[in-house]
Amino acid sequence: MSGEAEPQGERLQKVLARAGIGSRRVCENLVADGRVAVNGAVAVLGQRVDVRTDAVEVDAVPVPVAPDLVYSLLNKPAGVVSTASDPEGRPTVVELVPAWPRVFSVGRLDYDTEGLLILTNDGELAHRLAHPSHGVAKEYLAEVEGPVGAGALRQLREGVELADGTTAPATVGQLSPGVLRIVVHEGRNRQVRRMCEAVGHPVLRLVRTRIGAVSDPTLRPGTWRTLGHSEVRGLYTASAASSAQDPARRGTAGARQSGGTGASRGDRGAR
Ligand code: URA
Repeated sequence: MSGEAEPQGERLQKVLARAGIGSRRVCENLVADGRVAVNGAVAVLGQRVDVRTDAVEVDAVPVPVAPDLVYSLLNKPAGVVSTASDPEGRPTVVELVPAWPRVFSVGRLDYDTEGLLILTNDGELAHRLAHPSHGVAKEYLAEVEGPVGAGALRQLREGVELADGTTAPATVGQLSPGVLRIVVHEGRNRQVRRMCEAVGHPVLRLVRTRIGAVSDPTLRPGTWRTLGHSEVRGLYTASAASSAQDPARRGTAGARQSGGTGASRGDRGAR
């Protein structure tokens, strides 16, 4: 026996490349340039990491490296609840994606709301996207009662007084009479419906069309697909950018990454 210990963990550039950051060479250069951190300390060439426990960042944005993390983008139909189970026995979003690894929805869409919903077992990303301090943009198409006048549009844009406080500024356009495109950065319960109702235009139909930079007009209702590495990176980047003013949220990368065990999943599916 030589007595030399086996090196622990995997080489950082290999882990980064597997996470979709770039080729191993590109990742080596990122490390050499001091743009990679492990557990808050600038990484060095040749460093090894434990993907189950170490928190890796590139350009101060967390990179999810834990094994078995899954990210699905579902086009939720109306008539489905976003919780994992429903006391009333209504269909749930988790029934529309593979049962394993277990995932949960990032935020919620109302029973009657349609559109894009992310399901994941990455607790860190879920927390970042759901937390108001991160303010990732969510875009909705809202069909509302009646054409909306200039005054109501201005109110929607500037802020609407709701029971839980005035809404933050939103981007609102009327695509055709009674059809609004609304971009909000908050995630309050039934927010868009309550905003429209408050200005006298109850929602008839609501569809979420974008989360951060993630959209997919080709995804049919009731079907899902796996998010690409660059989409996941984009969501982390968007949430990091919008939380830059919130120091309390820095340096927690990886703490909530829960790598479930699981069989591999297809890339696209319908149930
Ligand atoms: N706003 C709502 O009113 N409902 C949703 O489902 C999402 C945003």
